[in-house]
Amino acid sequence: MASPSHRTVPGLAAMARAGEKIAMLTCYDASFAALLDRAGVDVLLVGDSLGMVIGGHASTLPVTLDDMVYHTRCVTMGAKTALVIADLSFGTYQASPEQAYRSAARLMAAGAQMVKLEGGAWLAPTVEFLVARSIPVCGHLGLQPQSVHRLGGYKVQGKTEESARELGDDARRLAAAGASLLVLEMVPAALATEITAELSIPTIGIGAGPGCAGQVLVLYDMLGIYPGKPMRFVRNFMTGNDGVEAAVTAFVQAVKAGSFPGPEHCM
Ligand code: KIV
Repeated sequence: MASPSHRTVPGLAAMARAGEKIAMLTCYDASFAALLDRAGVDVLLVGDSLGMVIGGHASTLPVTLDDMVYHTRCVTMGAKTALVIADLSFGTYQASPEQAYRSAARLMAAGAQMVKLEGGAWLAPTVEFLVARSIPVCGHLGLQPQSVHRLGGYKVQGKTEESARELGDDARRLAAAGASLLVLEMVPAALATEITAELSIPTIGIGAGPGCAGQVLVLYDMLGIYPGKPMRFVRNFMTGNDGVEAAVTAFVQAVKAGSFPGPEHCM
């Protein structure tokens, strides 16, 4: 395992090159940030999933930039070692690169070290614009929760030959535009493995199989406290572990060892 010094953007790329898996969890407040940090989580994602797991909404669409700024500030207060990524919420980056820059600058000022946005090749000019202005970017392909109404639900993406080809093209375009990281959500494992092998930037999977350079889960899912039936790719790490910190440590160990996700978590 790499040394526990503060994680950096180039440091994540170095981990992937060295074959060390990147462990990422969502996080929304300072207390959990401190706990996740102690447990060795490499990256804390202030996800707009907070609209669902904290706000109780049915989707991430109602989340505002002010919500994201507030929670990013909270997380950075607790994080000492982990790198902090913050989501650009719906409606705060899609209109133009300039709009994205104004929104991203607020998240960076709140303490984020990278911003994440959902979308493919059409966002490449925006990624280029942000990176040129020293804002590291994480892409997000496959299931894009902000597009839930266009997609008709939270469904596996890239299952047909055509959609798999399109997903691969999108990944290449985002990487070429300067993205530092790429989340692949609910994508067939074979496709995620293929994309990971081809790209020079690390991929982080969620429901995308074990072939990605790292794994992310929503914190409340892996602690088994989000109401309702969990998605197939979720493992409840509280099972068999004595407390929250032990569960998070088990997640980190399972990701690093390559034992999570298993075949039962693949799409
Ligand atoms: O908002 C979020 O929690 C996310 C993860 C699902 C990757 O984007």
